Parts: sequence; structure tokens; C-alpha cells
Amino acid sequence: MRTETIVILSKREIEKMRQAGQLAAKLLDYLEPLVKPGVSTLYLNDEAERWTQAHGAKSAPLGYKGFPKSICTSVNEVVCHGIPNAKQILRDGDIINIDVTPIVDGYHGDTSKTFLVGTPSPKAKKLVEVTRECLYRGIAEVKPDARVGDIGAAIQEYAESQGFSVVRDFVGHGVSNIFHTVPEIPHFGTRGKGKRLRPGMVFTIEPMINEGTWEVEVLSDGWTAVTRDRKLTAQFEHTLAVTEDGVEILTLPPKGES
Ligand code: MF3
Ligand code: CO
Ligand code: CO
Repeated sequence: MRTETIVILSKREIEKMRQAGQLAAKLLDYLEPLVKPGVSTLYLNDEAERWTQAHGAKSAPLGYKGFPKSICTSVNEVVCHGIPNAKQILRDGDIINIDVTPIVDGYHGDTSKTFLVGTPSPKAKKLVEVTRECLYRGIAEVKPDARVGDIGAAIQEYAESQGFSVVRDFVGHGVSNIFHTVPEIPHFGTRGKGKRLRPGMVFTIEPMINEGTWEVEVLSDGWTAVTRDRKLTAQFEHTLAVTEDGVEILTLPPKGES
């Protein structure tokens, strides 16, 4: 249980988070057209690392608690923290989550999307669409005086109404000059419960939604989390700031550029 207090970022710090968030969004936009049948997940990693360096930023995942690569690439039954690999070649019908976190001037922009490779099954497409909608329903709850539980409840209600399940073992998190901090943001829960949101809080919402069971397993590499039943899973993530009257999504491309 984490006992740190939740930080309230200054206007100046939120501007730094906005710069990092915008670069993260642009990196996902750069990678999206490279996602095609026949490419390896290592190729996507290497393109991300090269682009990040060319933009004067650093890849937070590289070396984080021993993570060996610059981005996470989570294909099909991989829930999160998939490790890019030269032998892993994308195939028509796959779905792949790419999770990026560039560090700009000390601050982290953390965002991910699930992309379709070629033409996945209708079931896979529905899972991806429902997961994107879960993220936006969670974001819609964010405003001063709302509770952390409101976010999880909105996500869980929608995911389960569509016949899917919500991963419990990985949650959203506070993010700033620290990659992962308080508050924890579960993607399930009860309205009216949990910490109260205040202007200046910055955290991620990053629902992982499964086709079958919500239970996950971590493979022997110590990172790759997979669904226990090996059915499909999808994820979307944004970094958000609580504003005086609602929410700002920090990981959107700069206005006019996308
Ligand atoms: N970006 C992931 C998140 O959303 C964390 C990746 S940690 C790593 O929190 F070490 F796997 F890169
Ligand atoms: Co992330
Ligand atoms: Co995150």
C-alpha cells in the first residue's frame, strides 16, 4: 500500500506534462502506419527509439526496473508489458497495443492504443472499440470532487454490459517527473468510493479489457502479462490532468497537427 501524498502539479509543471504528452501522441501517430503484416515488434521498437531520440526525448521504459526495450508491444492475448522481439512477426488479423512513454525535460507522457493488423475478426474489432469507449467513459468522469471509484465504475459497467471483463492486476497511476506514483486508478470499482479528485492531479487511465476471464498470468520473462485463458485483450491509455472545471487530455497531438 502506497502512503505518499498525491501531488498537485503547478501550471508550469502541467505545461511540461503537456509537452511530453503531445510528443507521446505524435510518436503513436508516427508508428501507426508502420503496423502491417510482416513487420516485427522489434522493428516498431527500433523506429520508436530512433524517433524519440531525434526529438530530443528519452524512452522511459528502457531500463525501467530492468525492462529491456523502449516501448511495450502487446499482441492478441498479451495484456500489457509485451517485449519487442525480432522473431515476433505481425500477421493479418492480429491486434497490437503499443504503449509509449517519452520523457521530455524530466516529465513523462504515457499513452497507448490498440491497432488492428490487416483485417481482424468482428469479435476482435468489437473488443478494441469497446476498450476505446471504456477509456473515454472513464475520462468523462474526471472533474474536481469526483471520486477515483467513479472512473472504475463507469469503465466496468460498460465493459461488462458488452460481455467483456476488466483486468484487476494492472491499474492507472499518477505520473509526472515520476513514471508510476499515487494515486492508483483501478478500472473497476464503486461510485462514490476512493480518493477525491482535485485540480492539478495528473494520472493515467489505461483500461485493459478481456474477451474472456479477467485473470492474467505473467510469463517467465518476468514482464509479459497474458490472459489466463489466452483469449484476446485490448488496451487504450491517456495521461490526464484534473482542471478547475473538468479534465484535460494531455496525450493528444498538438492542435492542427492530427
Ligand atoms: N507504459 C506502461 C504504463 O502504462 C508501463 C510500462 S513499464 C515497462 O504504465 F517497464 F514495462 F515499460
Ligand atoms: Co503506458
Ligand atoms: Co501508464
